[in-house]
Amino acid sequence: MNAIPTVMRAIDPEEPGGPEVLRVVERPVPAPGEGEVLIRVAAAGINRPEVLQRMGAYPPPPGAPSIPGLEVAGTIVATGAGVERDLIGQPVCALIAGGGYAEYAVAPYGQCLPVPEALTMIEAAAMPETLFTVWTNLFERGFAAEGDTVLVHGGTSGIGTMAIALCNVFGVEVIVTAGSDEKCAAAKVVGADHAINYKTHDFVEEVKTITGGKGVAVVLDMVGGDYVPRNLQCLGDDGRHVSIAVQGGGQATIPIFEIMRRRLTLTGSTLRPRSVAFKTAVADELARTVWPHVEAGQLKPVIDTVFAFDRAPDAHRLMESGNHVGKIVLEIA
Ligand SMILES: NC(=O)c1ccc[n+]([C@@H]2O[C@H](COP(=O)([O-])OP(=O)(O)OC[C@H]3O[C@@H](n4cnc5c(N)ncnc54)[C@H](OP(=O)(O)O)[C@@H]3O)[C@@H](O)[C@H]2O)c1
Repeated sequence: MNAIPTVMRAIDPEEPGGPEVLRVVERPVPAPGEGEVLIRVAAAGINRPEVLQRMGAYPPPPGAPSIPGLEVAGTIVATGAGVERDLIGQPVCALIAGGGYAEYAVAPYGQCLPVPEALTMIEAAAMPETLFTVWTNLFERGFAAEGDTVLVHGGTSGIGTMAIALCNVFGVEVIVTAGSDEKCAAAKVVGADHAINYKTHDFVEEVKTITGGKGVAVVLDMVGGDYVPRNLQCLGDDGRHVSIAVQGGGQATIPIFEIMRRRLTLTGSTLRPRSVAFKTAVADELARTVWPHVEAGQLKPVIDTVFAFDRAPDAHRLMESGNHVGKIVLEIA
């Protein structure tokens, strides 16, 4: 085992700005605190919230590193108090509150999952953020279950492709929307049962046709704004509407009587500010429910492009272009 250096390469912009602020600089290697591990990072997944953070619109929560990056995969090289030292050498992927764009990152051990043989480090790094988000929102808050039909917007996004993969594994029929015929075709290739081009078709009418007028059990929504009343029209009786982003606007006018008449539930969540205890509980549940499918090679993330560490600006440019299908990953080591 190589000695741990005191200084590492990291991306840590001093001011908000365009992709060019993502320069590789030197930073001290962080030390794992109680319950934490130090990971030598092999790869870091890129997520839309990091683009918002880079622009200054989504500051890290108190105590989180200013270095962006919400998910990594790599090898445990040191452990903090209360974590077994014999975990050193274990390959893990981890959900973190920041610090992923670096050669070393600290993670609460409870937020780590082992990297099985079925996954490369690149694939493992592309999973935690979308897996924790889709699991807690579509399956826990939205109660999606085998035999249900659900509607997921942004079907080719990192979140959307993970939702498709999980629905495929758990027997949920999944309808997605995307902004071009090419993206709709790509969503079907990765497992969507139906894909609606929302620019050329009214998704409300399409969902009615696909479900024979019954509507879907859950809508996973990352658009907000005027999508919300339209999403409610897509829901069947007792349907659940789960908000995870407001890319189309943070305000909506909703028909309250419809909520009463059809017993609809409106909910939502943001993952990043949740406590370590909550994220640890989710990781435990994922280890029991989803990870066996990952180990068996039945669930993998969709990878669009892998960039070398010093090409992080290009990785963000690609995400901002919206031309990707699935995940963009930085290869760190
Ligand atoms: N709540 C949480 O805890 C949580 C956690 C992680 C991510 N998120 C959010 O989830 C979203 C997806 O994240 P990601 O990392 O997967 O990003 P991503 O890959 O960049 O995907 C963004 C998606 O949003 C769609 N989109 C954007 N504006 C739209 C609009 N006006 N109408 C319809 N679709 C629109 C795009 O679809 P088209 O290109 O087809 O239009 C694209 O598929 C982001 O908004 C992110 O902030 C929330």
